[in-house]
Amino acid sequence: MSRILVTGAAGFIGFHLSQKLLVKGESVLGVDNLNNYYDVSLKQARLAQLFNHKDFQFFQLDIAHQADVAELFARWKPELVVHLAAQAGVRYSLTHPHAYVDSNLVGFVNILEGCRHTKVKHLVFASSSSVYGANTKIPFSVGDRVDHPVSLYAATKKANELMAYTYSHLYGLPTTGLRFFTVYGSWGRPDMAYFLFTQSILSGKPIKVFNYGKMRRDFTYIDDIVEAVIRVIDRKPNTNVGANSPPYKLYNLGNNQPVNLIDFIEILENHLGVKAQKELLPLQPGDVPETYADIDDLVKDTGFKPSTPLDVGLEHFVKWYKSYYTI
Ligand SMILES: NC(=O)c1ccc[n+]([C@@H]2O[C@H](COP(=O)([O-])OP(=O)(O)OC[C@H]3O[C@@H](n4cnc5c(N)ncnc54)[C@H](O)[C@@H]3O)[C@@H](O)[C@H]2O)c1
Repeated sequence: MSRILVTGAAGFIGFHLSQKLLVKGESVLGVDNLNNYYDVSLKQARLAQLFNHKDFQFFQLDIAHQADVAELFARWKPELVVHLAAQAGVRYSLTHPHAYVDSNLVGFVNILEGCRHTKVKHLVFASSSSVYGANTKIPFSVGDRVDHPVSLYAATKKANELMAYTYSHLYGLPTTGLRFFTVYGSWGRPDMAYFLFTQSILSGKPIKVFNYGKMRRDFTYIDDIVEAVIRVIDRKPNTNVGANSPPYKLYNLGNNQPVNLIDFIEILENHLGVKAQKELLPLQPGDVPETYADIDDLVKDTGFKPSTPLDVGLEHFVKWYKSYYTI
């Protein structure tokens, strides 16, 4: 049994990951500040599920508070850390930049410092496909240049990769960054398009379809994300003395099968049994028209390839949504 710290444990991905780790017999310490960026009762409902496991502990804590994070690490001494707590969302970063600086930059350094001082064996952290900005070379590969973020959110995620690299270089801290591509599924995030679409379609309201529907997204099902994260936790990167490279690794974590937004909406309509009223709108500032993950490295190193078809993943999501909101 390992002692694993999962930050953002009340969040969408952190909740699913914690649950799977607990089922596997690990001991999980969840941390989250339960902020009200979206419905707090959903975060609490996820936590209530996690409290069913005897090896789950939880601290409500803001990772931007240096002393609290240092004390947490010193007291609990995690062996492994999966850092998922962050201010997510591209559009919100246009109106609330400081939330991103506090959680994603200050908070990130606090986590790095905690890992460094308690000699954590492996830090796995969430980056994002948004670091690719408006790159047009597809599929997106980790070797591509990512120096032109189109939102502050993306800039903070790119900064996280650089900061983690520095700690790997200076202190030999093994770190792995995962660039998640549009994750969806049960207990999902109410600010994301598939969730908003479902809400609106079921209540007979129009849905906002940006870039006139000419968007492509590499939608990745939550169970695939969790399986890949678990495999990555077990694969600590090594120092390569010959190549003078620190124990640092980056992976894309996407479905490797982009889907047109319009086709996505059609599959969702089929599962909901209701047609959407579509309001076609231009591309929003900060948004990118296409994401598509090259996952060759992930498959090579972990032997795992996400495989859940969108039709199956959305069916699970709709089932959960209707049961959770008693529709
Ligand atoms: N869901 C996706 O499609 C997606 C895509 C790319 C990257 N990511 C990244 O994956 C990670 C998890 O995303 P998610 O979809 O589960 O989002 P989420 O918002 O559901 O989860 C993040 C959790 O972190 C917590 N948090 C935020 N700031 C905090 C702070 N200062 N201190 C403590 N807790 C804090 C929030 O309360 C939330 O519960 C994030 O880093 C996000 O940027 C997600």
